[in-house]
Amino acid sequence: MKILTVIGARPQFIKAIALSHAIGARSGVTEVLLHTGQHYDDNMSDIFFRDLGLAAPKYRFNLGGGLHGDMTGRQLAAIEGALIEEKPDICLVYGDTNSTLAGSLAAAKLHIPVAHVEAGLRSFNRRMPEEINRVVTDHVSTWLFAPTETAVRNLAAEGVGSEKVHLVGDVMYDVTRLVIDDPARRTDIAKRLGVDGAAYAVATIHRQENTDDPERLAQILEALADLADRMAVVLPLHPRTRKITEGHIRAEKALEKLLCTEPVGFFDMATLLTGAALAVTDSGGLQKEAFFHRVPCVTVRDETEWVELLELGWNRLPAALGRAAIGDAIDAALASPRGEEGAPYGDGSAAKAILTVLASI
Ligand code: UD1
Repeated sequence: MKILTVIGARPQFIKAIALSHAIGARSGVTEVLLHTGQHYDDNMSDIFFRDLGLAAPKYRFNLGGGLHGDMTGRQLAAIEGALIEEKPDICLVYGDTNSTLAGSLAAAKLHIPVAHVEAGLRSFNRRMPEEINRVVTDHVSTWLFAPTETAVRNLAAEGVGSEKVHLVGDVMYDVTRLVIDDPARRTDIAKRLGVDGAAYAVATIHRQENTDDPERLAQILEALADLADRMAVVLPLHPRTRKITEGHIRAEKALEKLLCTEPVGFFDMATLLTGAALAVTDSGGLQKEAFFHRVPCVTVRDETEWVELLELGWNRLPAALGRAAIGDAIDAALASPRGEEGAPYGDGSAAKAILTVLASI
């Protein structure tokens, strides 16, 4: 059986590693990796292949940047060509990026069945490009691998046949276990940044809805600058956020109080989380990684797809996306940092469960 896996953005390189390793260890199944090039800087892309030992993709395009329709359209055409050449039995996609949508659409139109890993997540906010990507991908997929029971319920509510849906847990937990189970994989990043042994927070901000509005971005960064009066705040800057803050006076002033770095690799981020007092983020992945390391989190969005962590009390949403309300959520998280114990994302064997389903076809 041949699986063609489409990846393109930072979180997908991380997610892909668990299943790629599982496929590599199993006879009778081969994987062809296709990288759309949606993310292309070394520290947004190649570093993850090196760090995690992900094989070099057979197809490597350069299709990042531009408006959503333009980017997705260029990726769609390129993936279609690769699918025609490879004739895989399955096209596998991860998550909710434009690369996910391009991969699933290209395959579905060629009648190549699609496997969607991280199916069924919903923010119920159709203004998010990711929500459009995941809804469409779910509805053209043959196998929907749901990470949570909430995701299974979301798919049932949209009329997706239960025979297509498999609750397997979250592949991000599989990957995070690499660090939890093997502390030797931790790096010296905390020392390099001078926060080793100190109280510090880790923050990331990159979502379009947080960065496109200069007023909102300034308020978020000012809330982080307020936190920096109490503890160091490490902020690895996504290229989108870096570009938008350049020349933006309030944002630049707030950034001066933060420990800004280039985007960091997977093991650096995991190491930072291990010692952090708090995570503040708009990333889906970091919300869960914080929980895996039992670090409280404030998610700088109006809603989240990972509602389990709100219920368990490890994650909080601010009442509004302004400086004061974000500050209140940060105060509440620091005052009551531990939530309830639970295992809403499985036991770290999601990749194995996915491969068992696919290999039985
Ligand atoms: C994309 C995903 C988002 C995911 C995120 C992970 C979509 C719609 N969004 O958002 O769901 O959470 O990836 O990081 O697919 N850029 C660089 N260098 C890079 C990568 C991007 O300079 O290596 C620039 C792009 O040119 C663009 C901006 O950053 O101007 C945003 O990149 P884009 O891929 O459009 O979206 P992300 O915000 O990264």
